[in-house]
Amino acid sequence: MRKVITYGTFDLLHYGHILLFQRARALGDHLTVALSTDEFNTIKGKAAYFPYHKRKMMLEAIKYVDAVIPEHCWEQKASDISNLHIHTFVMGDDWKGKFDDLKAYCEVIYLARTPDISTTSIKDSLQNSI
Ligand code: CTP
Repeated sequence: MRKVITYGTFDLLHYGHILLFQRARALGDHLTVALSTDEFNTIKGKAAYFPYHKRKMMLEAIKYVDAVIPEHCWEQKASDISNLHIHTFVMGDDWKGKFDDLKAYCEVIYLARTPDISTTSIKDSLQNSI
């Protein structure tokens, strides 16, 4: 079985996220999503609208997602890849080059971001419509 992993916050789930999962899953037979915890988001200076357990529940309902694990810190990626026997690490290309050190452990692929949609743009639109 070929195993793929990706990382992120996936707040206010949108079609850009779904298309990332679809393409990531197509690179193998099993997709793990490492989902930022609320505590890790605080460290990153991000505040998710939906708390971790609700974001996790939504990801688990997606047919392209086989497993959801917590992302607690930046440094866990290499040990996740080793412990979970991951073949391919996938991120959107806003992260291009940032995780190339993981090539020592597995294949690293940056997928093109879906244009014109982000959690930030949804939040901004809602804010501006008030
Ligand atoms: N992603 C994507 N296409 C988009 C938005 C996100 O492929 N239009 C990918 C990112 O590249 C990343 C993953 O989805 O690999 C999770 O991104 P995340 O930061 O949670 O989503 P964003 O919508 O980019 O959120 P924000 O605006 O808060 O950065």
